[in-house]
Amino acid sequence: MLNQFKKEVLDGLSKTPQKSLPSKYFYDKKGDDLFVQIMALPEYYLTRSEMEIFQEKTEDIISALSLNKENKYSLIELGAGDGTKTVHLLKALVNKNINFEYFPVDISQNALDGIKSYLRTEVPTLIVKPNHNDYFKALENLKQDGTIKIILFLGSNIGNLVDELATEFIYQLGSNLFKGDKIILGVDLKKPKAIVLPAYNDSKGVTAEFNLNLLDRINKELGANFNRAQFEHAPTYDEHIGIAKSYIKSKIKQSVIIDGIEFYFEKDELIHTEVSRKYDDQVLKQILSKTDIRWENKITDSKQFFANYVLEKN
Ligand SMILES: C[S@@+](CC[C@H](N)C(=O)[O-])C[C@H]1O[C@@H](n2cnc3c(N)ncnc32)[C@H](O)[C@@H]1O
Repeated sequence: MLNQFKKEVLDGLSKTPQKSLPSKYFYDKKGDDLFVQIMALPEYYLTRSEMEIFQEKTEDIISALSLNKENKYSLIELGAGDGTKTVHLLKALVNKNINFEYFPVDISQNALDGIKSYLRTEVPTLIVKPNHNDYFKALENLKQDGTIKIILFLGSNIGNLVDELATEFIYQLGSNLFKGDKIILGVDLKKPKAIVLPAYNDSKGVTAEFNLNLLDRINKELGANFNRAQFEHAPTYDEHIGIAKSYIKSKIKQSVIIDGIEFYFEKDELIHTEVSRKYDDQVLKQILSKTDIRWENKITDSKQFFANYVLEKN
């Protein structure tokens, strides 16, 4: 994975006119810990909103899945993280004697180790089979083992893909599923800038630290010499189209060496690190129109900040 990391960093920083770094590399041990802190921030409404759905509307989710006790299911969670929302669904399914196994997929081994030990305590009878993988690769290996698949893609993870990539992703996902397999897709809904932007720019600076930690990771793992103090976190939100973007801004004109290659930064030059797409029904319909996945159900929190769409393969 180190070679892949190096390749993607060098490619991203070589891009013109806009340098970029892939957001999936936020999640080293420190990044995982920071993300857990972010989820608890007062400004970060996303996790609380989706948590409310998983806690208060577990039965709605289960009934939307139309489960049958005679069948065997595989619950495959892409980018599982810490599992604190999913656990409510997992417990309810175990209590209903649904025959299933749980496959968390994550690029972070640290996250997978955490979720495995967490679930051992919380749901001891559940069979958990972690898969350390990029979820794009995991799609190719979805086991064709005769079980019915339920794919969980929560936490607005899909929002990290621009619409073309999200369409491609759902299309690819669909091509690895059979008729009747389901997807639970968690998306953040469009809302005013005054609510969205602080979620990516909190007053304690945890999201800033999370973004800039990527530079530390590149220094640590690829022997680069980014001077953190000379860069800053710079998020934006376009309320009209519903897209938040995170950037790392170079405070001065400078250069950085990675793997013997020198990269130049102008003063105020931006490195794009993350996109967070906000959805509405129209955005989702547009994406699904180019796939063989259809929309079955929509479950929202009480403030209508977040939605879990239940989708089905045609
Ligand atoms: C924003 S967190 C969300 C975690 C969880 N789904 C939730 O809703 O709380 C994103 C998780 O996805 C993982 N991740 C990000 N990009 C990934 C990729 N391309 N392949 C696999 N896992 C990825 C990260 O390691 C992290 O655990």
